[in-house]
Amino acid sequence: MNTAPYLDPALPTSARVADLVSRMTLPEKVGQMMQLHANDGVESPIRDFHVGSMLHMSPANLVAAGELAKKTRLRIPILIGEDCIHGHSFFKGATIYPTQLGLAASFDADLLERIGRATAVEVAPTGVHWTFSPVLCISRDLRWGRVSETFGEDPYLIGELAAAMMRGYQGDGLGDPTAILATAKHFAGYSETQGGRDASEADISQRKLRSWFLSPFEKVAREGCATFMLGYQGIDGVPITINKWLLGDVLREEWGYKGMLITDWDNVGNLVREQRLFPDYAHAAAAAVRAGNDMIMTTPAFFEGAQQAVAQGLLDEQLIDQAVGRILTLKFDLGLFENPRLPDPERQRAVIAQPAHTALNLEAARRSLVLLRNDGLLPLRQSVRKIAVVGPNADDADTQLGDWAGNSGQAHWLTTGHDPDAITTVLDGLRALASDGCEVAYAKGAEIITTGPDPVGEFFPDGQPRPDIAMPVAADPAMIAEAVEAARGADVVVAVLGDRIELVGEGRSTATLELLGGQVALLDALLDTGVPVILVVLASKPHVLPPSADRAAAVVWAANPGMVGGQAVAELLFGEFEPSGRLPISWPRHVGQQPTYYNQIDAQHGHRYADLTQEPAWVFGDGLGYSTVEYRDLEVLMPTLSASDTVRARVTVANTGSRAAIETVQVYVRDVNTSATWADRELKSFAHVTVAPGEAATVDLEVPTASCSIVTSDGARVVEPGAFELLVGPSSRLSDLLVGPFEVTAS
Ligand code: NOJ
Repeated sequence: MNTAPYLDPALPTSARVADLVSRMTLPEKVGQMMQLHANDGVESPIRDFHVGSMLHMSPANLVAAGELAKKTRLRIPILIGEDCIHGHSFFKGATIYPTQLGLAASFDADLLERIGRATAVEVAPTGVHWTFSPVLCISRDLRWGRVSETFGEDPYLIGELAAAMMRGYQGDGLGDPTAILATAKHFAGYSETQGGRDASEADISQRKLRSWFLSPFEKVAREGCATFMLGYQGIDGVPITINKWLLGDVLREEWGYKGMLITDWDNVGNLVREQRLFPDYAHAAAAAVRAGNDMIMTTPAFFEGAQQAVAQGLLDEQLIDQAVGRILTLKFDLGLFENPRLPDPERQRAVIAQPAHTALNLEAARRSLVLLRNDGLLPLRQSVRKIAVVGPNADDADTQLGDWAGNSGQAHWLTTGHDPDAITTVLDGLRALASDGCEVAYAKGAEIITTGPDPVGEFFPDGQPRPDIAMPVAADPAMIAEAVEAARGADVVVAVLGDRIELVGEGRSTATLELLGGQVALLDALLDTGVPVILVVLASKPHVLPPSADRAAAVVWAANPGMVGGQAVAELLFGEFEPSGRLPISWPRHVGQQPTYYNQIDAQHGHRYADLTQEPAWVFGDGLGYSTVEYRDLEVLMPTLSASDTVRARVTVANTGSRAAIETVQVYVRDVNTSATWADRELKSFAHVTVAPGEAATVDLEVPTASCSIVTSDGARVVEPGAFELLVGPSSRLSDLLVGPFEVTAS
């Protein structure tokens, strides 16, 4: 029997790690730093590479890997990672929530924490220990394909929601058998693409990183996010994989981060191949380890490369020991040596898709919907006699789930996706909710795109599948005629338009933001019937709506609303709940306006292009309810404060409508004079309040003065004494905000 100290759970983790590392050979240690996929089975990664981790594992591979690991020399359990980013994405039957961007519309950290928790409860018994979530990238250029994976454009909102989701994943600590490791990704600046092109070099200075991009990461680092994942890009000539300033000085030194750092997919290969910084894998591996990476994702050549680097004196083996130590620490803390948390079918049956999770999902879907316009048609009366449900996304289960779910392309074992019967489309939802005497007619009306293989080849050089290319499908007069026929005699048309999963994701940025294919022609034809049209934009990210959309009676955004999203949309249209979603990201009028995020630095020459306003169609924070509210009497309670105080204020929210209102009170701060150019205003807090019709509520607001900081021109984040303004209201639009001055004194 093996009685080595590292197997003794009574010893402290540090002692177990030290003992185990001392027993490992160099190949075992290098292998421990590697994460490989199992597309060709689990045997070679485990036997030939001694991998410490695997990802994208089918249920069968998970079982096989667990069995094989028990037979290895040191019986080190294998850490299994997966992109469970809005639910257990690739586990058949699991609960799939709205995408992160949809969830961000809730502006509700508590909801995100509960979703993180419920996801972990479903993930843990399937043998997966680690989710590559949440995404903390800031979405600025909407052409980027991964906007739907983010919490939108605002660093404060991102930090609040990401930290909450992380808490949910990690539960009561890693010893909790339902805890899974969270990942803060993609560290950092990956989303600052050029032209929206995925994984392009990011044009971003250290000061800009510190000003907006790093703060959400700092929050989760300090709050104990177990792992961090890098982006792909380079910044200022330095690939993020070897950016010692970011990974070392900032993350490890400044923030004191003790967790595990993982590269993104084949970043080390990228150093040799596309970025061409190193002639071979020995040099690339040495540089990656020296920069502080612990786990190397899907670079098989790291195995030989790192060993050669040690042999050639390029890499100190002690650095390998440290990285392995951080990996093993997590394995010990998870208790994997005592209980490797292999798949547990009985527990899976008990917890996956349990009714409480479906109920939570419905709550999330409702909260994710944003009512952008309503001329008074909504909510629909139960007395409607005929509804025409039209559009390519009215009954498209896969698009409703969005990216990283079912058959969105990443899981070879789930090519048929999630069970369509478990997904309520908008058509299903309306059929279920319409009253008995109401006819629900349906016509697809248009196609969006077809897809075909990319002529360049099936795979990227890094081995990831190259997505198919999308080709818009021209409007089809016969389909439009059928839709118009369905609309005839209807009280209302619900047109469900948007994008498709083939236009979303890694390597799938879009050059356009318009509604593609036959959709605009379809919308125009429907509007021409004279029947009121409700436009539901079921789309992964904000789109540019055609001019005719101004004639729609109502516009709703449903950002990949998840398995029960169709039910939520139907309920919203019938007024079964109060719409409360607010935009976590601005909607442009034209793709050429990119970027349209609200917290920009003012320009000297106004707010117009020669041929178009710069104003977005809808701004960050926008969103309607069925009631109307009025903000008044903003009062800053103590208008002179020191940098260690808290700004306290009070505002009255009056419900001037006839239904209960659920309001997201948004609190922005303007630093009136700054030593460096800075955003005109930044979100610093928000609060939810429910107000009965005809009533008014007083809402107490708090902003720590310490958060009213800027980053100076030499990169320091400081609160600069002087005049400030608190801006409070229902959106980030200046004309929506009440202003309350306050002063921060020097001491
Ligand atoms: C690449 C993606 O950029 C990252 O977000 C993901 O977690 C990994 N692949 C693993 O699937």
